[in-house]
Formats: sequence, C-alpha cells, structure tokens
Amino acid sequence: MAGESANWWQTGVIYQIYPRSFQDSNHDGVGDLRGILHRLPYLEELGVDAIWLSPIFTSPMADFGYDIADYTDVDPLFGNLADLDSLIDAAHRHQLKLILDLVPNHTSDKHSWFVDSKSSRNNPKRDWYIWRDPAADGGPPNNWLSEFGGSAWAFDPNTNQYYYHTFLSAQPDLNWRNPAVRDAMHDVMRFWLGRGVDGFRVDAVWYLIKDDQFRDNPLNPLFQPGGLPRDALIPFYTADLPEVHEAITGMRRVLDEFPDRVLLGEIYLPIERLVAYYGRDLKGVHFPYNFALLTAKWEARSLAQLIDEYEAALPSGGWPNWVLGNHDRPRLATRVGPNQVRVAAMLLMTLRGTPTLYYGDEIGMQQAAILPEQVRDPFEKNVPGIGIGRDGCRTPMQWDGTKSAGFSEADPWLPIADDFREVNVNSLSKDKGSLYWLYRRLIDLRRKHVALAEGSYKPLMASGELLLFYRELRKERVLIALNMGPEPIAVSFPEERVSGRVLLSAFADREGEEVSASFDLRGNEGLVMKLDSDRRDN
Ligand code: NOJ
Repeated sequence: MAGESANWWQTGVIYQIYPRSFQDSNHDGVGDLRGILHRLPYLEELGVDAIWLSPIFTSPMADFGYDIADYTDVDPLFGNLADLDSLIDAAHRHQLKLILDLVPNHTSDKHSWFVDSKSSRNNPKRDWYIWRDPAADGGPPNNWLSEFGGSAWAFDPNTNQYYYHTFLSAQPDLNWRNPAVRDAMHDVMRFWLGRGVDGFRVDAVWYLIKDDQFRDNPLNPLFQPGGLPRDALIPFYTADLPEVHEAITGMRRVLDEFPDRVLLGEIYLPIERLVAYYGRDLKGVHFPYNFALLTAKWEARSLAQLIDEYEAALPSGGWPNWVLGNHDRPRLATRVGPNQVRVAAMLLMTLRGTPTLYYGDEIGMQQAAILPEQVRDPFEKNVPGIGIGRDGCRTPMQWDGTKSAGFSEADPWLPIADDFREVNVNSLSKDKGSLYWLYRRLIDLRRKHVALAEGSYKPLMASGELLLFYRELRKERVLIALNMGPEPIAVSFPEERVSGRVLLSAFADREGEEVSASFDLRGNEGLVMKLDSDRRDN
C-alpha cells in the first residue's frame, strides 16, 4: 500500500496521447506538439495528473514514430526541440507530469547507427545490431518470426548477412548484449531527464534480449490456422529472457539519478511472468503495464477472478496499474458496448492502482471503420485482413462538431469517426450527465478520497452481473457496486449494520442518497459509496 508517502505515479491518473491524432496546429492533418500545448487546459480540467506521449522523435514514420532515426530530436511533423521544451514547461505549470515513450529495442533502419552498422562487416557499429550468416540453403538463420508477419530476418545483399527485426524490417533490433548499446541508450535517457521529462514508458521491453545461441523457437501446438502468423511459434528464445531484467535494472539506475521520475514497461505477458518486471527489490520498472482488462471477458466473475489473481501475484510493495485502452487495441467503447462504458470508467478509476486513460476514451470514442484504401498501419498492411484495428483506435480526437472535429483544418491523416457530431468534447462537456463528466467526477473522487487513490482492495461479491468490492484506508471505506448487465439488481450487502451514502452514480443522479445493507442498482449502473465508519477500526 502506498500510505502517506505515495508518489505522483501511484495516486495520479495517466493520460495517453497519440500525438498524430490529438490536435493539429499547423494544418497538415497530423497532430503536433503545439496542438498538445494548446489543449493542456482541457487535460488540467479533466483532472489527469500525467500525460504520456507516444513517440515524437525524428522518424521516417514506417511505424508512425516507433521507428526512430534520432532519439534526441523531435520530428518536424511534430515540431522541434524548442516546442518540446515549451510543452514540458507548460505541462508542469498546469500541474501535469510529462512521460515520453522510450523505444530501446529497435531503431529505424535510417538511424545513423544502423546505416553505419550496415555499411560493412567491419564497421565499429556492426555489433550494435544483430547480424547473422544465412542458413546453409541461403535462407534466414533460424525460424524466428516478426511480430508483424513473416520472418524476423532481413537480408542485406551488400554484406551478405541477415539482420534481426522483432517488428518491421525498417525497425532493426539493437543488440542489447553489447554494453555500448546500453550506454548509448542510457545517454538518451539522461538527455531527456535532464530536460525535465518526468519519466518513460518503455516500448516492447520484454523483447530486449534474444537467445545468444539463436535456437529455433518451438512450434505452438495450440496455433489455429487464421491466427496471427507470429503465433505459430512460442517466442521462447526471443522474448522474456532472464537477462532482460539486468538490462532493465540498468535503465532504472539511470532513471534514479534524477529525483521523482518513473519507468513504466510495456509488457504483454501472463500475470505470473509480468510481475517479474518489478525486478528484484523492486528495482525493475516502477510498474509493468497490466493489460489484462484489454482482453478480459466482460463478466463480473471473470473480472473478479482476474483482479484477485493480479493482486495476489504482485510482489510485496509492487504498485498495481490498470489499462482499458491504448493505441494498439480496439477502442474501449466498442469493446464493452455503449451500455457498459460508464461501468468500465468506474472500474478503471476505482480499482487499486494507477489508471491509464487513452485519449478519447473519456468521451466514448468508438473504434472507427477504416476502408481498405484508408489503412495506414504497417502491421495491417503486412498481414491484410487480420483486423487488429490499430488504425480504427488511432483516429483524431473529437473536439467539436465542425469539419474534422476541431482536430485540424486540413484533411486528417486518418478519417474522423462517423459519430463525431454527437460524440465530441464540446457537446459532452455541456451535458453534466455525460460520460465525460463521469470521468471528471471519478478523477475528482480519487483526489478527495484517499481510500480510492491508495487504499487496499477487498473483494466482496461477484455473482451474476454484480461486481462488489471496497477500497479501504485507515478509517475510510469506499464501496463500489457495478452492474455489468441491463437488468436491475437488488443488492444485499453481506455485512450487517452497513450505512453510508452514494458519492457517485454512473448516471449522476443519486449523489447523497443514503445506503444501507441493501440497495438497488439499475441496469448498467455503477455506484461509488462512502460507508460510515462506526465499525471496528483496523
Ligand atoms: C509497441 C507499440 O505500442 C506499437 O505501437 C509498436 O508498433 C511496437 N511496439 C513496435 O515499436
């Protein structure tokens, strides 16, 4: 439990911005840093505590910024270094922390390190990347597969070797077994931390180290034809290797040279392996992102089980976190459906741990329909028809009902979702009963009630469509009741002598209502209730 000395990254709410899609300020149809700066008052009003920007560094944009050609400069599409400095300052003036995306696993093939590495076998940078001779038949050195389809090896005819890429061939993997690579990435971190950045979300960090004997990955016996091509193999020798933890500890050491910063890891692994990324003595990432809710069955009992498993797996002192949306997965509002978006908001903001809110989810932006000719995502292009939906969840922020939703005066790089005339910040902020206002109130409640921000999690009941739990810190106890279905539920609280009052209803119309050991929930309703403390103190 965080207790008295909780850090900002524990009590706060993180808001993820996909910079290409937040706000365009120079009329080229792509969002930029000045656009974000212009929208800081919106974020302050919403009440979030930190923003994380997906990559804004110099990039050919093969993977929309996750292919970096210069780690210490800003891509002209987004602005320049001075714009970023202004944004850091302005964010801090608005009481917002600023987290950057660090992409240490791979660079762009246009990065000067790779250009040098590729130029000859003797180049001093050759060993900064992973080069191997062809197999006997001239093909790739082993069976390793790219996350984005096809072999993970690309042939360079000039030097007659293959290089390894976890993602696109335009994203060659750095060789993290080489100390010079680590040093270079540590310097990148110091560059940004020295400029006042509050931390990093570290991309694809569980892939950093690969088997040094380059053994074939085993076949996946559960693979079904039609599945993602990469799932044909189990990534036993290419992901989550034990040595990765040492690499992360090295990054953490650099981060700790600066006070009050945070290191967050992007890691898609089952819970029991995920939690290892807190590191020995909690000297790994401050938290590995917990993506369990992105694919969870939206059903009370499964959710309760998942929460229990996660809580039980956390190492002592390891701080939890929850995510309901990001730039790689279909939009929340579409996944859970319009009736459950409010319940989802309540769950995200009342579970124990740091919530990360994906831009637009606070207004219920839907997964946008993308026509085949509108596809921009290289993953989708590599494996047509996979329907991974990364374009549909990255469409421009819907600010108002004017052309291009107030995002840009030019044609936006991705289409605006069809519903933007109704679903936009301008109209939702005028309606106190809207989803937007529910998020605002929930964020505000977290600030006001320490039990919500820092208290322990106590499961009470998960049955049928009802999920019931409370959060507790010292004498404060907050009860959360979520109805995950359309029918009303008569809740009978299992403890005797319960009394309290409603702090917030999903429909914002029961605040102050008294509650006792039994109360009613309408269909798709959630309630946050403060319980009176005339009970045992513990
Ligand atoms: C994870 C990022 O979230 C995703 O968008 C990107 O394509 C890959 N890493 C490669 O950097």
